[in-house]
Amino acid sequence: MTTKGLAQDAAQRILDKVKEPVTVGMVLGSGLGALADEVENAHRFAYSELPGFPVSSVSSHASELVVGTLMGVRVAILAGRAHYYEKGDATVMKQPLATLRALGCEQVLLTNAAGSLRVEVAPGNLMLIEDHINWSGRSPLIGVESDDRFVGLTEVYDAEIRANLKKAAAHAGVPLESGVYTWFSGPNFETPAEIRAARIIGSDAVGMSTVPEVILARWMGLKVGAISTITNYGAGMTGDELSHHETKEVGAIGAEKLIKVIRAYLGAMA
Ligand code: HPA
Repeated sequence: MTTKGLAQDAAQRILDKVKEPVTVGMVLGSGLGALADEVENAHRFAYSELPGFPVSSVSSHASELVVGTLMGVRVAILAGRAHYYEKGDATVMKQPLATLRALGCEQVLLTNAAGSLRVEVAPGNLMLIEDHINWSGRSPLIGVESDDRFVGLTEVYDAEIRANLKKAAAHAGVPLESGVYTWFSGPNFETPAEIRAARIIGSDAVGMSTVPEVILARWMGLKVGAISTITNYGAGMTGDELSHHETKEVGAIGAEKLIKVIRAYLGAMA
């Protein structure tokens, strides 16, 4: 079956249970699953029940779709993402994103854990993604055979969503930096030389996700907003070795702030 057919099939199964369509989709990164627990009247669907959904092998990812209401807005949260680095497939989140679209979403908010390249943006803080650099050189649209593959990415992170996320952060009293996110394939962390290079080319943060999903989402016509929770400084910026453990631990601090911002954002929409 085609991506669209599979997504319509998954969306129909979901809508049979949840009844009402959804306005905002979300993708949660490492350690950010707590947001899904805030959803009211939640219906939970394990990815394994949904056609075309991947099962993530990352220890901090739950792999369920949570549909319900948050601050009066109908939301569908992908709690758990699969990553390019798991199997080398940049299209791995295509079906879940297409399902969000088929559920009625017009916009998707993506979150991730990232390393900061800016000394003044310390771990535990949030960074609004203004733009990105695809350092992996991979595109999830390789292999698409129609002209719609030539997706323009001039304003990839929607200006109105960015402005509203900034307003929401101010309203919630959460500092929100903004900057450029650079996608490294992972799963290894970067070298200090790569981090220095990333700074020179204009990166403010680095991470192993989000960019392929953003490209897919724009291809599907979804508006995109994205926020990183900063879990560490880039390799070589401190004397410490990086670890996934740290990503999870510090991610939890950022998650609390992120929940406040998302709640304020949705509250202003309702
Ligand atoms: N590099 C890549 N991915 C990450 C990092 C990092 O420093 N921190 C959290 N995810």
